Amino acid sequence: MNLDQIVSDARDLFSSASDLHALEVAKARVVGKTGTLTGEFKKLRDLPAGERAKIGSRINKLKGEINALLKKRREELDAESLEKRLFDTSIDITLPGRGNMDPGTQHPISICLESTIELFHSMGFSVIDGPEVESDYYNFTALNQPINHPARSMHDTFYLLGHDLLLRTHTSPMQIRYMEKFKPPLRVISPGRVYRVDSDATHSPMFHQLEGLWVDEDISFANLKGLIRDFLRSFFQKSDIQVRFRPSYFPFTEPSAEIDMLFDSKWLEVGGCGMVHPKVLNNVGTDTEVFQAFAFGMGLDRLAMIKFEVDDLRLFFESDIRFLKQFM
Ligand code: PHE
Repeated sequence: MNLDQIVSDARDLFSSASDLHALEVAKARVVGKTGTLTGEFKKLRDLPAGERAKIGSRINKLKGEINALLKKRREELDAESLEKRLFDTSIDITLPGRGNMDPGTQHPISICLESTIELFHSMGFSVIDGPEVESDYYNFTALNQPINHPARSMHDTFYLLGHDLLLRTHTSPMQIRYMEKFKPPLRVISPGRVYRVDSDATHSPMFHQLEGLWVDEDISFANLKGLIRDFLRSFFQKSDIQVRFRPSYFPFTEPSAEIDMLFDSKWLEVGGCGMVHPKVLNNVGTDTEVFQAFAFGMGLDRLAMIKFEVDDLRLFFESDIRFLKQFM
């Protein structure tokens, strides 16, 4: 084969190689064991000595040219592939956002808590906060809960082993904590988490209550009834909601009542209430000759279930975003 032809064929081969692997294959076809240029080297053996030196040095020169071509093409391909990689991974900052930044929504219990606080604020109540890990004294004893009261049994209460502590079973200990510190008249609500050993569609081991306490001269059960009724009507934004006070028992109130409301022609229990028991007021040094007090405890989750028509309490605490996103 014509030597110049070999070089020009090699140039074509190399430039049509589209990547480094293809270039290696092309290289083998020229300078590999059976390559075109290698074939010319082999032929040298058959030439007379004089010509052999002449043609040999020519072939060597061509081999240098071919190596230079290879090197050049290799560099081109390297640069191309770098450019491609950069292009593929480049970020186009002018593209519009994909809109998958989820800002989230307020939790339904928080929505209810906020509007509850707002309503009680407007009726002159302050909001107080207290510990979820309580002592036996605040959770039971000070609330006139005798030692053999069923709510004290291991079945209802989470005790902290080795300590005289428990997870509060209601928000009522806040009545004691607040009255110990502040002198009447007082009007407070205390919302928060409470805990009981209980779990089904309408009970969760952790749930939310809203405690209310009003201590003043000349307040009666009638004020309590009016307050609760006004609150429920405002909360559900329905002026004709019927509320019923069903006689009940709590160790820390006397008389005591369950609060029921009529919803979709069904009576639903939303909390408990009563006039604070004189023994409880004595425990905190309130003069029962001058002051009366009433208290109530409502299930915030229960209110949320009714408001949002959710029939399984557990849904509130499973953090399933598809569920939570429905409430605004
Ligand atoms: N603490 C009571 C409960 O959890 C509710 C309640 C609060 C009752 C205040 C009367 C007064 O069941």
